[in-house]
Amino acid sequence: MAGSRGARRRIRWALRHGIIRRVVGKRAREGDLGARLMVDPAVLAQPFPHYDALRAQGRLVNSGIALASAHHDVATEVLRSQDFGVGMRMPENLPGILNLALKAGGRWTLGPIEPPSMLAVDPPDHTRYRKLVTRAFSARAVAALRTRTEEIAAGLLDQIAAKPGDTTDLIDDYASLLPATVIAEMLGAPVEMSRQFLKWGAGAALSLDAGLSYRDFKRSELDIDALNSWMLGHFETLRRNPGDNILSALVTAYDEGDRLTEDELTSIAMLLLAAGFETTVNLIGSGAALLMEHPDQLAVLQTEPERWGNAIEEMLRVESPVQRTGRVARRDTEVCGIPVTAGTVVVLLIGGANRDPEVFTDPHRFDVTRPEAGQNIAFSSGIHYCLGAGLARMEGEVALRALFDRFPDLTPAGPAHRRPTRVLRGYEALPVTLTRAWVPA
Ligand code: HEM
Repeated sequence: MAGSRGARRRIRWALRHGIIRRVVGKRAREGDLGARLMVDPAVLAQPFPHYDALRAQGRLVNSGIALASAHHDVATEVLRSQDFGVGMRMPENLPGILNLALKAGGRWTLGPIEPPSMLAVDPPDHTRYRKLVTRAFSARAVAALRTRTEEIAAGLLDQIAAKPGDTTDLIDDYASLLPATVIAEMLGAPVEMSRQFLKWGAGAALSLDAGLSYRDFKRSELDIDALNSWMLGHFETLRRNPGDNILSALVTAYDEGDRLTEDELTSIAMLLLAAGFETTVNLIGSGAALLMEHPDQLAVLQTEPERWGNAIEEMLRVESPVQRTGRVARRDTEVCGIPVTAGTVVVLLIGGANRDPEVFTDPHRFDVTRPEAGQNIAFSSGIHYCLGAGLARMEGEVALRALFDRFPDLTPAGPAHRRPTRVLRGYEALPVTLTRAWVPA
């Protein structure tokens, strides 16, 4: 039984990642930039010069596998175009062998980029799912969460200050726990499970990348399955004890037959949970690192705190937590005057678009007063524009303000480690010395 489960998983891996891994690896060895951006660890660590080089090659660069762009106008046009979608439709007349392999692969896990995830479906399903959860993330709902987020930040900083010694890992003790606690409370999930959610979330985050190794694929499937099983049990708890939270409302919508299948319900819930803490952690971690590297910019914020909102935009721009996304042409079309045929995959390098010199002057400079910082597309554009953008901005500002108010002399303590993921960019570990805590007068 376990053996056939393993064999099915191998087939799923081969179809979803193995083939891409092989083709992309070969193209990368031949020097193709788009492919190197996917697999070369050195490029991954510092992708920005490579985005510049790719941008210089053209508006849409053909890597033989997909078209890629690091241009701001191209990315924005594709993301807003109705000629592009996220749904990879299987061709009607799939070759027999592929059809057989698909069947032999068994059931796919309900990952964040597998249908029926909101991220992976086009209208009308996308419209239906999004409508169910939009209200919970409205500007008004986010404003109401600010005070609670400030309390959570203060509580975590108290714990850090109370630890023996004056070094800490900012990711483990702060940047990850703050958004995890906020989203767990929003979803009526037990806050004491935050660390478990973070572990499952790290596995789910891997699944965003194409061309995974079998080991990473297996880990991501097992973590997603564990999260899925936990979620099904959690729905039962919410049915018995509904609370004033989004998931209780979704479970009720499902129970009342609001055209939502159990897979749809689970997928929405898992996306909210995982998106809630797998992305904002990177904004907080990278934002803290940027301010430690640029004390002059921190000084600007200390004297002019009204600039914090713009500073968050600038952090999202220079260290975009989501570095890339993709779309598929639904029909023959044009992008910025360039013809694109139906079925073509277009990779949009958000991290590159956010450093496009046509939009951002001196784009590699981190400047919290930059007037055009808000033109970044870190939260995407068009119908899939991040549902949690307002929440993430609020969490980022509250977290970083509270951190630097409490520890204004925060400095790096030893080497930081980046996460191994390609779509998501951020730190896995960021050791810091707290130095001196600010004591209220
Ligand atoms: C700094 C933090 C965050 C960043 C940079 C970010 C980025 C993004 C991006 C780029 C997309 C669209 C991807 C595409 O167009 O293909 C997206 C979608 C989404 N995000 Fe976020 N996100 C963040 C935080 C959050 C939070 C806190 C939540 C809420 C729980 C959230 C929930 C979602 C959802 C549900 C979608 C799917 C929207 C749709 O398909 O209509 N995100 N996010």
